[in-house]
Amino acid sequence: TLPHVYDGEVTLAVIGGTGLYDLPNLRPVARLTVSTPWGFPSAPITVAKTDSGFPVAFLARHGKHHDLLPSDVPSRANIAALKHLGVKAIIAFSAVGSLQPEIKPRDFVLPTQIIDRTKGIRPSTFFEKGFVAHAMFGEPFDLKLNALIANAIPSQGFLEGFDKEDVAPTLHTKKHTNGDDDLTIICMEGPQFSTRAESKLYRSWGGSIINMSVLPEAKLAREAEIAYQMICMSTDYDSWNESEEPVTVETVVGNLKANSANACKLAAKLIDEFAEKGSEIGEDIKGSMKYAVSTSPH
Ligand code: ADE
Repeated sequence: TLPHVYDGEVTLAVIGGTGLYDLPNLRPVARLTVSTPWGFPSAPITVAKTDSGFPVAFLARHGKHHDLLPSDVPSRANIAALKHLGVKAIIAFSAVGSLQPEIKPRDFVLPTQIIDRTKGIRPSTFFEKGFVAHAMFGEPFDLKLNALIANAIPSQGFLEGFDKEDVAPTLHTKKHTNGDDDLTIICMEGPQFSTRAESKLYRSWGGSIINMSVLPEAKLAREAEIAYQMICMSTDYDSWNESEEPVTVETVVGNLKANSANACKLAAKLIDEFAEKGSEIGEDIKGSMKYAVSTSPH
């Protein structure tokens, strides 16, 4: 059994989505049960180390045994617990559906924008009970973290030497920081997938991919002044694509299983990259909430 305490700061966290429940390529050094004012996180947090000794916190978003629906993920506890450990940057993995023909199942996507289609039933701010603050969210992901990830992974052939040599997924990234080439993720409530009409509507809005998990996680990370980027793994074409069978759980889970070993290796590579080049990441959003609080002192 692992120690239940970890002495020292952990600056990077990985949140695993469906199909990514631990980081098997890293050496676990502690398993932490963190209590927060917002309750317990989805699962105990594992602190693991790379070969060079860099620590990273890992949290399974849907619980160790995937027993949490997207609507029930305790995102405030998750982000608060990571903040408590000293985390400055979060790389979050998620399974997504594709809304565009060029984003094939098993491709990876680094989204740059979000459209909120959750239903307002998920607690999505740390500021409440007489305390009002408005975080900037025009740029919902951290551009430096996005660039670090994009530069660490070639857009094609990034699974070379990885397990699945028969598939050649593409990493879709945005090339510019302004313009209309955003990669937009729709975040829906679920747990049911979209109707075909909804799926087509999201395409007409410019959506690239769809999931049920990026919110409120990304908003809470921003409020906690933690740099955040999601890495999306496409599992299906959602229901707009009438030439495909409508999305089923079997398709999603099948593609995810095929992807998860590769995602683990990708995560390991990105952690090394962050250890080497990530020291500045998260520095620029430090203090960003200082002037976001509207409630006057009394
Ligand atoms: N997660 C994986 N595939 C999805 C889809 N088609 N819609 C919403 N969330 C998803």
